[in-house]
Amino acid sequence: MNYEAMLAGLPDAVIAVDSDARVVFWNAAAEEMIARSARRAVGRTLKDLFPFEDSLIRRLRETLATGESRSESETAVETTDNRRVPVSLVTAPLFGRDGSVEGAVAVLRDLSRLQQLEGEVRRGETLAAAGRMAVGLAHEIRNPLGAIRGAVQLLQRELRADSSLTEYTRVLLTEVDRVNRIIEQLLDLARPVQVRRVPLNLHQLFERVALLQEEAARERGITIVRRYDPSLPPILGDEDRLVQVFHNLVRNAIESMKHGGHVLLSSRVSMNPLYGRVDSGSGQRIMVEAVVADEGTGIPTGLRSRIFDPFFTTKESGMGLGLAVCHRIVEEHDGAIQVDSVDGKGTTVTCFLPIAR
Ligand SMILES: Nc1ncnc2c1ncn2[C@@H]1O[C@H](COP(=O)(O)OP(=O)(O)OP(=O)(O)O)[C@@H](O)[C@H]1O
Ligand SMILES: [Mg+2]
Repeated sequence: MNYEAMLAGLPDAVIAVDSDARVVFWNAAAEEMIARSARRAVGRTLKDLFPFEDSLIRRLRETLATGESRSESETAVETTDNRRVPVSLVTAPLFGRDGSVEGAVAVLRDLSRLQQLEGEVRRGETLAAAGRMAVGLAHEIRNPLGAIRGAVQLLQRELRADSSLTEYTRVLLTEVDRVNRIIEQLLDLARPVQVRRVPLNLHQLFERVALLQEEAARERGITIVRRYDPSLPPILGDEDRLVQVFHNLVRNAIESMKHGGHVLLSSRVSMNPLYGRVDSGSGQRIMVEAVVADEGTGIPTGLRSRIFDPFFTTKESGMGLGLAVCHRIVEEHDGAIQVDSVDGKGTTVTCFLPIAR
C-alpha cells in the first residue's frame, strides 16, 4: 500500500513536521490551501512558513512537546498570499521505534464552502422572516394608506381653486404612492409566486437587459462587453423574473463604477463543484453560469454578509431590495447566486441556473 500516494490525494491538507518543526510532508491539498508548493515548503521550519503564531503552529508545537493530539473545530490559517482560510484542525504525534516523539502531523479541513452554505441557509431564513413581516405590515398599512389616498384626492378636488395648497396634496399623493410601491416590492419578496418555467435562450435575455441599460452605461463611460458561450444549451426559466434579476445586477454593476470601465456579461456551462449540478427531485440537472462582472468599487469585506438582506443599502437613493429580490428569484429556479468581490477592483456575480433538458 502506497500511503504517501493516499495522503497526497486526500481532500484535506496534511502537513507533517519532524521533531525540530521542519516540514517533511506537504500534500497537494496543503499546496492549494496555503498557496505554496511542496517543493517550497518541505525542509523549511514552521516559523519560516508561518510568520504569524497561529493555531496550526501552536497546536503542532504542543503535540511535539507533549506527544498528545490536539484539535480545534474552527480556526483559520494565514496563506502565502495573505488570505485567511477558515479550517478545522487536528494534530497527532508521530512516534519513533523507541517511543519518543519523532514528529507531528496536522490535518486541516477547509471550512469556507461549508460556511458559504451556512450563509445561504441563514440568508434564506432572513428573507423568509422579512417576508412574513411584510405580509403582516402590508395588511396593516395598505388599508389606512388607501384611506389617506382617497381623502387626499377629495381634498385636491375641493382645493382646485387654491393653487398654493394643491402643491401639498400633490406631494402627499406622490409620497403615499411611494410607500405603496415599497410595500408592493416587499410583498414581491414574500409572496409565493408562480414561476412559469420554459426553455429560454440566456443570451437573448442578456441582450434584452443590455438594450435597456446601454444608454445609462454609455453616459457614465461604461461599455457592456459580452462573452457568450455559443454552444450554451437553453436554460429553464421564467423570462420576466430572470430579466428582473439581470436588470438588478447590471444596474448594481453600473452604479458601482464612478469612473467608467467595463461590465462583462458572460455565460458558460458550470464546472463548479458546489453549484454546478443540482438535484431538484427529477434527477441531476446541469447548471449554467450567467455572470455579471464589473470593474467598480467592490464590496468591503465587512459588508459582504449583509448585501442580500432586504433594505441593506450603501446608496443614498437605494432601497436595498435589488439583491434580495435576485436571491429570491434564483432560488425559485432551484439555482444559486454567488458574489465574489475584490475591494477597489470590482465584483463578479454568478447565477447558477438549470439547463432545460
Ligand atoms: N456590483 C456591486 N458593486 C459594489 N457594491 C455592490 C454591488 N452590488 C451590490 N452592492 C452593494 O450591495 C448593496 C445592496 O445591493 P442591492 O441591489 O440589494 O440594493 P441597492 O442597489 O442599494 O438598492 P436597489 O437595488 O434596491 O435600488 C448596495 O447598496 C451596495 O453596497
Ligand atoms: Mg441594486
